[in-house]
Amino acid sequence: MGYQIAIDGPAGAGKSTIAKLLAERKGFIYVDTGAMYRGLAWYFLTKGIRPDDEEAVTKACEEVKIDIAYENGKQQIYVNDKNITDHLREEAVGNMASKSSAVPAVRARLLELQRDLARREDVVMDGRDIGTSVLPDADVKIFLTASVDTRAGRRYNELLGKGESCDYAQIAADIEERDRRDMTREISPLCRAEDAELIDSSEMTIEEVVEKIESFCRESR
Ligand code: DC
Repeated sequence: MGYQIAIDGPAGAGKSTIAKLLAERKGFIYVDTGAMYRGLAWYFLTKGIRPDDEEAVTKACEEVKIDIAYENGKQQIYVNDKNITDHLREEAVGNMASKSSAVPAVRARLLELQRDLARREDVVMDGRDIGTSVLPDADVKIFLTASVDTRAGRRYNELLGKGESCDYAQIAADIEERDRRDMTREISPLCRAEDAELIDSSEMTIEEVVEKIESFCRESR
């Protein structure tokens, strides 16, 4: 069993930025579990499978081949041997992932993959249920959050930076809706594990957050 750092929190709290940087510093692999949910979501979209059709989703989970690989240190997702990593950040894929991740077969399929990686490697793993369900014995557990305003502002600036037009109020509403879905689903809802350290990044820099987690790692030895 490798060293395990679990980072959970709502969309837009900065989990992937922080987790990536932390993994680089510690020489661990970064496991982005959201990308795995997005990988299956991409497959459902291309097959025209609706997320509320539990039977079809379950059947697709049994048939599909999903693999994680690391190329130049970056996580890649393969679905039926095709590298689909470039499609994962599309808005439609994110929305589908938020819905299809509520189906038990989807979670069961990915849980095995996630635990298997953590058995073989030292990991920084981020998601919604890592500290509560995937790696309940993780060495360090973090619940990373930030206010809706902060998260919407970050997303707004990110889209502006890419030259895309966007509406701040719409972004904030989408974030609230996704929070609600992630926190109220029946299995493995987003919640803070009892033994997770709470970090609110609203008023913190990336560097400050990473340093704080590194200090928890030193304490846990
Ligand atoms: O972190 P993200 O936005 O890439 O995640 C996409 C969706 O996947 C998110 O809406 C909820 C779901 N997800 C999950 O249910 N459990 C995880 N461990 C990671 C993501």
